[in-house]
Amino acid sequence: MGRVLPLLLVACLAVLAAGHKSLEGYRVYRLQPITTEQFEWVRGMQHDPALDFWSNSDVMVSPERQETFLDQLQREGIQWETLVNDVQMTIDAEKMRQLMASPDGMGRAISFTKYNRYDEIQAYLQELASSYPSIVTVGSLGTSSEGRAIPLIKISTGGNGNRPVVFVDAGIHAREWIAPAMALYIIQQLVENPSNADLIANVDWHIVPLLNPDGYEYSQTSYRLWRKTRSVTTRCTGSDTKNGVDANRNFDFHWMEVGASSSPCSETYAGPRGFSEPETAALRDYVSSNRNIKLYLTFHSYGNYLLYPWGYTSTLPSDWRALDDLARKANAAQVAAGGSSYAVGSSTNVLYAAAGGSDDWVKGVAGVDLSYTIELPGGGIYGFDLPASAISRTVSTFWPAVRVYGEYIAAL
Ligand code: ARG
Ligand code: ZN
Repeated sequence: MGRVLPLLLVACLAVLAAGHKSLEGYRVYRLQPITTEQFEWVRGMQHDPALDFWSNSDVMVSPERQETFLDQLQREGIQWETLVNDVQMTIDAEKMRQLMASPDGMGRAISFTKYNRYDEIQAYLQELASSYPSIVTVGSLGTSSEGRAIPLIKISTGGNGNRPVVFVDAGIHAREWIAPAMALYIIQQLVENPSNADLIANVDWHIVPLLNPDGYEYSQTSYRLWRKTRSVTTRCTGSDTKNGVDANRNFDFHWMEVGASSSPCSETYAGPRGFSEPETAALRDYVSSNRNIKLYLTFHSYGNYLLYPWGYTSTLPSDWRALDDLARKANAAQVAAGGSSYAVGSSTNVLYAAAGGSDDWVKGVAGVDLSYTIELPGGGIYGFDLPASAISRTVSTFWPAVRVYGEYIAAL
């Protein structure tokens, strides 16, 4: 076996040791509420700073909290099962697999066999800009709290900026790694795959593959399950002074009305005021100054949802049928490609009420009628930690849905 394997193992251990915030003993429970009261109770727990809801039903609970939490469930009569027994062990195991994974040999600075770091994403965009100077422009949407440029790529085959625009972003939530991978795949397909030429013939695409680069890098190096931005707010636990803000509660449209927290320690902290975060303010400035945007797609994970506004109220927008029809066509296309079916509907009605999301602001204030939040699939027991081996299949399965959206705008 020579010296390669021992070297790899040493590298693995070093990487594991670098992840200093340990989730040893943290468990994830899947709750199974049945009655309205039980659903209400679970919903009420979602903003408890000691709990981290990975989805509507899956909640990560610290070792100290497990006993009282299970007592509470018992009292409420809510059934549950253990989804992850030790979160840290699952994370370490996947990290190990990523390190052992072989490169995909594409010869380009991007890969779909592993999750790319911020620098790799930037390098890929730069490479596209120099290989395809007539259709690609790379720049930045703005600057994050920690001073990173937020990457922006514009794909246009002509028209002097007068064509309809599809605006795509991903990675507003740091730990949802499959989302930036999806955005990168869309970029690759549009720019490098000639069979998608019809999608860029008379439509421009403006794509922000990593809206929250600070949080993403932090989730790569220190704390896998980081969700928020990395701005400095009030200290709440340990030595970490940057508690950050849930950027998808920070848009100033019905801000803080529902489904958001005013506690800096909560995973759904809406921030001290609307648009307090440079990342959300940059998106606001860009989208409000670009009148040609006809479609907005924002990628998250996990849970297989195609959501449209509103997130702040259960009332449907007057044009909900158009939103619903298009989402169902997109869903059918990815089902035909082998994906499992997504739940389609308004985010309040099919997921939960949460104000201050980007989708609501884009529709309600910027006036982009077609606005969607897409929750890509999670991976088995990993949730956010969809194994790297599943990236390629996941993004290529959803691609036909993106194609349906693109064709719709091209035909307008
Ligand atoms: N999981 C997403 C979140 O919690 C869903 C957002 C849906 N949109 C909304 N405006 N609530 O941010
Ligand atoms: Zn999210």
